[in-house]
Amino acid sequence: MTDQNVKSGRRNFLKVLGGGVILAAGAGSLFAFTRTPTKAIEPWKLALGTKVDIDPRRIILSHAILAPNPHNRQPWVVDLETEDEITLYCDLGKRLPHTDPYDRQITIGLGCFLELAVMTAKEIGMNVELILFPEGENFPRLDQRPVARIKLKKDASIKPDPLFAQILERRSNKQAFDISREVQEMDALNITSVVKHDLVAGSLMRPEQIEAMRKLTKEALLVEMHTYRTNKESIDLMRMGKAEIEASPDGIDMGGVFLETLGLLGQLEREDLLNPESAAFKNGIPIILEPLETAMGYVFVKTEGNKRKDQIEAGRGYVRMNLKASALGIAMHPLSQALQEYEEVKPQFEGIRQKLAVREEETLQMFARIGYGEKPNPSPRWNYEAKIRST
Ligand SMILES: Cc1cc2nc3c(=O)[nH]c(=O)nc-3n(C[C@H](O)[C@H](O)[C@H](O)COP(=O)(O)O)c2cc1C
Repeated sequence: MTDQNVKSGRRNFLKVLGGGVILAAGAGSLFAFTRTPTKAIEPWKLALGTKVDIDPRRIILSHAILAPNPHNRQPWVVDLETEDEITLYCDLGKRLPHTDPYDRQITIGLGCFLELAVMTAKEIGMNVELILFPEGENFPRLDQRPVARIKLKKDASIKPDPLFAQILERRSNKQAFDISREVQEMDALNITSVVKHDLVAGSLMRPEQIEAMRKLTKEALLVEMHTYRTNKESIDLMRMGKAEIEASPDGIDMGGVFLETLGLLGQLEREDLLNPESAAFKNGIPIILEPLETAMGYVFVKTEGNKRKDQIEAGRGYVRMNLKASALGIAMHPLSQALQEYEEVKPQFEGIRQKLAVREEETLQMFARIGYGEKPNPSPRWNYEAKIRST
């Protein structure tokens, strides 16, 4: 099960869990009808204003931690030892070894973080010298060496980035989109036009392409759900109900009074969600696939190579697209299942590359559906303070 599934149920995910229990939840996030995990979403309100007289690095961090990232693992940890510098590391315990065996997606998430950091620095009149992997790149997996050094210097001539205004508004929208409302090709073009650096971004907007991709993305999701270890990786990261979300504001958040009650009564068995023969699993499939059937177009990012730096650039580009979509009122939802590098999903991996004409030496780094939808609540975050490494 993947992170898009659990918050997605437009009708209701909860009926899955009870194996036939039906509770109409309406279209919004599950939080809408229950107790909002206020503490877990506080970092969205605490992003420090730009005129506050405090260490600019804190202003930068309070925005950068709002970046999209795989399974909301928030894999960043920073060191502020050197004045006017932020050193970024990957918190190695936050990786996803089964769905992301080479830490590619985790690195993309760190790229998203860096782009928001650079954008915020510009907003407060600071020039950034960004040094990626100053002690070398690490393959096949990341290690304890730094991911980036962010050197800051005041610079009155620096131009702010208009996308900064969207940092607090941006969301990954995992719900069903409005299928009566098409996305204009021009808007898709606007979204993909904001990527910089050496990236290639594109979109798929023709009806037959959309139809083919709806099918392929659903297949890839089913593979992930039916592969025990990849499914378990998500199930283990579920935070069920307000108390769990507040205690660990990361992973896959599932709020709701009903869900909490089931949990308390011991009726919500993670085991059932891991067992394809269980009623909970079977009843859940159509609900989980439903949002994917409402894709009204797709955007993607690919890179020429697949070095760590390429992955960072892909993250920088992806979050810019997500911010631009937000400015246009267009919802965006990454669908990574067919891009993943594990054996069972190879047919879909090959399939999506073929459909997008990805060349042998290229890597498809991000793929997301777009459409119009109700804006969800922000997702939980650890405060930036919790991400500063103490020495
Ligand atoms: C590299 C990457 C891959 C992602 N893949 C998926 C995905 O396959 N399905 C999904 O629902 N969300 C995916 N997401 C979105 C994250 O789940 C989301 O960013 C995270 O839960 C935080 O929520 P927010 O973006 O609304 O702040 C991905 C994000 C990144 C950066």
